[in-house]
Amino acid sequence: MFYVFSSPAAIAEHLSQQLLEHIRNQPATTLGLATGSTMEPVYAALLKQIAQDPIDLSQLTTYNLDEYIGLPASHPQSYNHYMHHHLFDALGLKAAQTHLPNGLCTDCDHECHDYSAAIAQAGGLDFQLLGVGSNGHIGFNEPGTAFDSRTHVVELSETTRIDNGRFFDSMDEVPTHAITLGIRDILDAKEIVLVATGEHKAATMDLLYRTPADPQMPASALKLHANVRIYLDPAAASRLPEEALYYVD
Ligand code: GLP
Repeated sequence: MFYVFSSPAAIAEHLSQQLLEHIRNQPATTLGLATGSTMEPVYAALLKQIAQDPIDLSQLTTYNLDEYIGLPASHPQSYNHYMHHHLFDALGLKAAQTHLPNGLCTDCDHECHDYSAAIAQAGGLDFQLLGVGSNGHIGFNEPGTAFDSRTHVVELSETTRIDNGRFFDSMDEVPTHAITLGIRDILDAKEIVLVATGEHKAATMDLLYRTPADPQMPASALKLHANVRIYLDPAAASRLPEEALYYVD
């Protein structure tokens, strides 16, 4: 389950190749995408490889994991803005190919229901990319979220608001709520790769390793899935026992 690479750049290189191979084999792939600083090198590597070896993305469909409630798509910290900035615009994907929860929803429960339904209608997610919060959240599924949850509105924990506050000018500006794909939606993906890099994720990975599937540690839900890989750099893997690790390069 735990794969160790020499650096975040080595993870990005490997994972982007893996994604491109998936799309070459199955052009109508439905990809589940994540945001966060961990994903930035992955998207940069993907763009670099596509520039060197172009690929037809006209049948690709993407669904993002989550979005803050209350931020317009134009807000620099909205995940919509992040995705356009780091990936979508450079790939030239059409608006109809990419999907994010609508953070400016008025009937949010309805929107959440429709988001999960649209993914199911598209045949489910073929490949889900995940980062992880320091408290073990995946998407914005905070500790305590039921494993059978579908897309829903969450109140962000104080830990998450503080973690993500580094991207905002002040804590007052950090949204209090978000929409996230549910854990059941994530587990329905056919293949999942979670990436964690840096010393600040080492304790989280240690907790994940030691916790049997338990809603208090949302990422532990992945232990219920048959096709999950966790890609770590040496810093994030530093607290795990050697016997749990598979070294890639
Ligand atoms: C946010 C996102 C998560 C992401 C996490 C980790 O909270 N909702 O999907 O996994 O950040 O972020 P980073 O990669 O910046 O550590």
